[in-house]
Amino acid sequence: MPREREWLTYAKWSEKYGDLVYLSLLGQHFMIVDTYEVAHDLLNKRSAIYSTRPHLTMAGELVGLNLGLLSAPLSSRFNEIRKLLHKGYSQASIRDFWPVFEHDSQVMSMQLLSKDLDFADTIRQYVGTVIYKTTYGYSPQGRDDPKLRWVQKSMHVLSEVTRAGGIWLVDVIPFLRYLPQWLPLMGFKRQATAWRGIIMEGVVDDYKWATDHQNAPSTIKPNFISSVLSDGSSSVALSSYATDVISWAAASMVGGGSEATAGNLLSFILAMALFPDVQNRAREEIQGVVGKGIMPTLSDRKNLPFVDCIFREVLRWNGSGPLGFHMSRQSDRYRDYVIPKGTIMVTNMWSMLHNPVVFPEPLAFKPERFLNDEAACERFGSVIWGFGRRVCPGSHFAEASLFIAIATMLATCVFSDPVDPNGVPVPVDVEYESGIVSLPKLFTCKITPVA
Ligand code: HEM
Repeated sequence: MPREREWLTYAKWSEKYGDLVYLSLLGQHFMIVDTYEVAHDLLNKRSAIYSTRPHLTMAGELVGLNLGLLSAPLSSRFNEIRKLLHKGYSQASIRDFWPVFEHDSQVMSMQLLSKDLDFADTIRQYVGTVIYKTTYGYSPQGRDDPKLRWVQKSMHVLSEVTRAGGIWLVDVIPFLRYLPQWLPLMGFKRQATAWRGIIMEGVVDDYKWATDHQNAPSTIKPNFISSVLSDGSSSVALSSYATDVISWAAASMVGGGSEATAGNLLSFILAMALFPDVQNRAREEIQGVVGKGIMPTLSDRKNLPFVDCIFREVLRWNGSGPLGFHMSRQSDRYRDYVIPKGTIMVTNMWSMLHNPVVFPEPLAFKPERFLNDEAACERFGSVIWGFGRRVCPGSHFAEASLFIAIATMLATCVFSDPVDPNGVPVPVDVEYESGIVSLPKLFTCKITPVA
């Protein structure tokens, strides 16, 4: 299996072998799903078969990531968490969070203009702050806030434990988990215990903070936890099971949303610095609609079609989640093939969003492709949030928090001259890092105030 920017290799395989590529590695079946048509046929239309996640002993069971939604297998607990999130982060509920997104976008833009602050940290602070305020009612105090630091630590755990596809020796030889820690090759057990401790501490502490502080005057309301706790119709009573479900529902949103959103905002800054004409056109649109020196709001979105196109194009061009992973729960027949039970379905969303039939000149950054092209808009919407029962529960949150961040940055900051850490100008065919969340390679750029 490729280890670097896998989605490009998978796209090449698909060009060569067709839109269903099957491979087997150490007895594990994989199916690369490179086109929207196949993803829709299998993952959407047969979602009861294809909506569970691959089982990983080290990451899922020993470190405990199976408890969070992102890696959870299908189960009644999974359904309870999804139900809570469906309501708590619906389009209607997200409207209540608009003031938080608008306020913090302005704070972030002002910080971006401060030369003393690292802009990637500033972006992560914005993302973490809006998630914590709207999920728990907690207002992080600066970038060194302990809860924001926990997000970084847990993201580090996630990236370390899923390195090399998340396959550890114990994933290949599961009985190793029952052997004592002092034996050779058992180092993974100590590592798993340490990582599990980091994850659990944050999940438990954040939920405890939220339940202890809902009546405090400084707590931001409404927030997800306050809505769930005050909702008598919730199907979960406050048993230890309910506490588990609610605390993991909230933590899953912190885990699922942080790095994906930050990655897309970094891509946005890079794209603006690389394509000044696009940047100027968007800024002119904002100034024409809301006025010069006035901050856009989320109510202005419907009047800012070009800025909306930029939002879509950033996610399409080099979105932070190029690949997805589902697993089949039973064997299935599709076309002339049998797909065995337990096959890992690797969805290549990068390929689907670079299909030249729907997105001509797919490698180019061209936000205007979405203007008056319903097919492109529809395909974008059908791919970007994933498939079947795993479709992103944070999509409305992401839309609103990203759009207003982008519009506010455009209204206040000019981005230019992107360079890599050696000072070499970044080329327009930008390189991205591999990993579960794909970020642009390290870069800096000039950030100056809008004149
Ligand atoms: C920046 C934009 C975002 C994009 C493009 C995105 C996209 C996705 C995709 C493709 C999936 C996997 C779907 C599948 O397996 O088929 C996913 C899952 C998930 N996302 Fe997002 N997401 C974004 C932001 C967010 C935000 C802001 C949150 C929370 C506030 C969030 C929470 C989650 C969670 C919890 C899951 C796991 C769902 C499950 O496995 O059942 N995402 N997202």
